[in-house]
Order: sequence, then C-alpha cells, then structure tokens
Amino acid sequence: MDLAVLPVVVILLLTYLAYRLKTQITFWSDRNVPSTGVSLRQKRDYNVHIARSFQKLYHQFKGQFPIAGIYLYIKPVALAIDLELLKCIFVKDFQYFHDRGTYYNEKDDPLSAHLFNLQGTKWRNLRMKISPTFTSGKMKIMFPTMIAAGKQFGDYMNEKVGKGTELELKDLLARFTTDVIGMCAFGIECNSMKDPNAQFRQMGRRHFELPRNRLKDSVCSIAPRFARLLGLRQNDPELSDFFINVVRETVDYRVKNNVHRNDFMDLLIAMMKGDTSGQDPLTFNEIAAQAFVFFVAGFETSSTTMTWALYELSLDQDVQEKGRKCVQEVLDKHNGEMSYEAMLEMTYIDQILNETLRKYPPVPLHFRAVGKDYQIPDTNTVLPAGTSVMIPVYAIHHDPEIFADPEKFDPERFTEEEIRKRHPYAWTPFGEGPRICIGMRFGMMQARIGLALLLRSFQFTSGEKSTVPLDFTAKSFILSPEQGLWLRVDKL
Ligand code: HEM
Ligand SMILES: *[C@@H]1O[C@H](CO)[C@@H](O)[C@H](O)[C@H]1NC(C)=O
Repeated sequence: MDLAVLPVVVILLLTYLAYRLKTQITFWSDRNVPSTGVSLRQKRDYNVHIARSFQKLYHQFKGQFPIAGIYLYIKPVALAIDLELLKCIFVKDFQYFHDRGTYYNEKDDPLSAHLFNLQGTKWRNLRMKISPTFTSGKMKIMFPTMIAAGKQFGDYMNEKVGKGTELELKDLLARFTTDVIGMCAFGIECNSMKDPNAQFRQMGRRHFELPRNRLKDSVCSIAPRFARLLGLRQNDPELSDFFINVVRETVDYRVKNNVHRNDFMDLLIAMMKGDTSGQDPLTFNEIAAQAFVFFVAGFETSSTTMTWALYELSLDQDVQEKGRKCVQEVLDKHNGEMSYEAMLEMTYIDQILNETLRKYPPVPLHFRAVGKDYQIPDTNTVLPAGTSVMIPVYAIHHDPEIFADPEKFDPERFTEEEIRKRHPYAWTPFGEGPRICIGMRFGMMQARIGLALLLRSFQFTSGEKSTVPLDFTAKSFILSPEQGLWLRVDKL
C-alpha cells in the first residue's frame, strides 16, 4: 500500500470517531430531553450507593419530562420518572421492552445465560418453560423443605441465644436462605446453619462480595458485542466451576438412581429430558444456568429483606409486638403448626415485609432495553432501539409525594385501603409485567417463614454493638447494611 494513503485513512477514521462521539454526547439534547449532559469530570461518587445517586437525579428532573437523560460514561440511559410511563414500559408497551440489556456471554460463561439476562425469543421460550416451576402448587410441594431449613435455623437460634445475647443477623439470615435455596434448587443439604463456612455459603458470599472490575463492567455494558468478542465474562471462573460441578453431580446421581425430590432441580431435569409438554428439551448448560440464577437471585434478596425488617422492628417495639401477635393468633388457629395455609394468613407480617421492601428494595433499580424505536407517549421524543432504560425504584419508594414521610417505617401503608389509594406502579420491588420476578412467591414465603419463626420465640432490641442508623454498603448493588446487623436477642 502506498504510504501516502495512510494520513487519509487516519483522518477518515478520526472524523468517523468524532462524528460518533458527537452524536453520542448530544444524544439527549438532540431529542429535547432534559439531561445531565456528558461530563467526564462528574464521575459518580463510588462511596455513595447507586440507589442514592439515582435518587438525586430523580428529584433533579422530576416533573419536567417523563424521563431524564443521563449518561453512564458516554452511554445514554433513559431514567424513567413518570409512573404512567412505567406502566407503558412494564406492561402496555412490553413488546418494545422485553429485554434488560444486561450483559451475558453464553459461549465463555455459560452460567450467565440465565432467565434474568436472556433476551428476545430465547427469554420468552425459557420463561414459558420455567413458569410452571413457580406456581402455588409447586410452592406447596416445596414448602416442607423450606420449613425443614427453618427448623435448623430455629434450633441454631435456641442454642445460641441466652439472655441479652448479641448476634449479627445478616449473615445468619443469609445462611438460612442459602439452606432453603440450596435444598430447593440443587437438592443439597448445604448445612450453612451448622457450618458458617459451608461451601454454598462461601460461594454465595464470594458472588456478592468479590470486588467488581469497573473497567470490565463498563466495557460489557457499553459495548457488549465487543466484550463477547474479547470473551469477557461476569462470573468468577472458580465460582462457575463449583456450580457447574454441583449441578452435574446432582443430575447424574438423580438420573442414574431415578431419584425424585419434588424440587426445582427435579423440574429442570424433566425439562432436560424433554418430558414436559412437547417443548424443546433444555441442554445441561441451560439447566445449570437456571439453577444458578435461582440461587443468586433468591438468597441474598430475601435475606436482606428480613435483615432490614428486623432492624426496623428493633427500633419500634409496638410494631414488633403487633407482628408477634399476628403470628401467635394465626398459629393458635392452626394448632401451633406453621402450615402453608397458616403462613398465607399472616397478613400483618406481609404488611411488615412489604413496607420493608418499600423502604429497602433489595434491587434498587430496574433495567430495560428498547427493542425497537419507541415514541414516548404524548411527546415527540423517540428512543432508538438499543437505548438503555433504568427505573429508579428506590427513589420512587422514597418520594414524599408518593409515600408521605418516606423515612418512617409504617406497615399501615399496606392495608388494602391504603394500597388502593396509590398509583399501581408506585411500589414495584419485584418489577412488574411479563418480566416480573419469577420467584416473588417463593421469596415472600421464605421471608415470611423466617420472620414468623423469629418473632414467635425471640425479642429483638438494640444492643451495645448495634449501629443506628444503618447505612447501605456501596460495595454491593443489592441494598445491604454496611456493618451487618447486630442486635440484642432475648428468648421469650
Ligand atoms: C424478596 C425477594 C426477591 C426480590 C426483592 C426480587 C427482586 C427481583 C427483581 C426486581 C427482578 C427484576 C424484575 C423486573 O425487571 O421487572 C427479579 C427478577 C428475577 N428474580 Fe427475583 N427477587 C426476589 C426473590 C427471588 C427468588 C427467591 C428467586 C428464585 C428462586 C428469584 C428469581 C428471579 C429470576 C429468575 C428473575 C428474572 C426473571 C425474568 O427475567 O424473567 N427472585 N427479582
Ligand atoms: C404484599 O406484596 C405481595 C406481592 O406483591 C402481595 O401479593 C401481597 O398482597 C401484599 N400484601 C400486603 C398485605 O400488602
């Protein structure tokens, strides 16, 4: 090649890049959307939880336009603000918003190809196949397993708690939900209650506590195709090997010995063998990825919910007593037995949990990606296909115009009457629409069991080691208390 051409090529390339950059940084102003603008200086403060950073943006822009235009580095993101727009995104115009746009890499990181990350028809087919796994009928079948894990938890507490014992509850609750999900999704006795360093618990901790690589995360989020080309993966290889091996051993054992346990793994294996309603069978990697997502999506969300609930109850003995009375009354009606039916009658416990999920939504942001060009209703703004959308759940749940006196913990917000007074999309800790959390009932049930079991036998108050107020750790995306939860526990 004639070297004289080189400068021309370089100039053309630079012109193209400059043009791309220009359209990128004027993305929102070109569409008349109020926006923060790109500022490479205005970097996010990584000591503040992202829920709070987005809350600030929400209030800065609320009332101007249905969305606010923000940039993550140079990637434009539509922050949905208006509740009517949420309804469109979640439900009415779901056909434009069926993907989350989160990164996954099926080839190099098979466990990442799970229901939460999958897109388009792949997601739709899998969701259809998996949904029957989460019906109330299946829940009822798994209920005794949940109660068995609850019993181990209760035994542990009885053994540890004397008078005025101080305990760190966040880890204990995570051990309880690890045991529940380990049993239900993998059919494995994890024993994390008896052994704090049980392997499943260690792996769970590792998944949520491993420091993130921000550069890698940004590449995956801004240029997923490029990231796949590079073979970038989100899951730590050691963690991934552990789960794949566990699933392989479990599947081999069950298939060889024809063992059935009435749990998620049974249902997944049936789908792999193709003996469910004539649909395409799932591959081994596909069922491993689903078992994995049940685990990571299922234990930490529910355990932090219970953690925050106990924190609030330790600060308000009246609400705690009312919760305890609810448990006792229902159990008295059911011969003292924590049956499936009894759990569903504990309305005030649900009010406590729902108020906890309002004040501390474990997943503080929801994600969607625009699938085809979408005109925001009643505006001239068109969001082109590929645009990221984020929904600031935490900010909405703390908006005083939606929930008066938002920092006050008040289960009375969840009486039928109060719920009716609110916009139906004001409270969405599980998301909404066809992509709503598939494990909602399961998560609520294990949280109900844990809380009922604890309130029945123990009293929780602040102790010497307690921290008030508790702040969020900025290290984890899931809302989780910075220093764990130390409380004084007394046997009743
Ligand atoms: C209190 C407990 C839980 C909370 C707060 C929670 C929250 C969420 C949220 C916010 C989403 C995204 C919804 C959306 O984008 O609209 C989600 C999705 C999901 N959750 Fe949960 N979750 C909980 C428990 C569970 C449990 C116990 C499981 C499994 C056993 C589970 C499995 C999943 C899965 C597989 C998805 C992806 C669904 C899809 O994209 O089709 N979650 N969850
Ligand atoms: C709490 O939230 C769950 C999940 O949306 C709902 O099914 C239940 O009716 C709510 N209960 C109360 C008391 O608010």
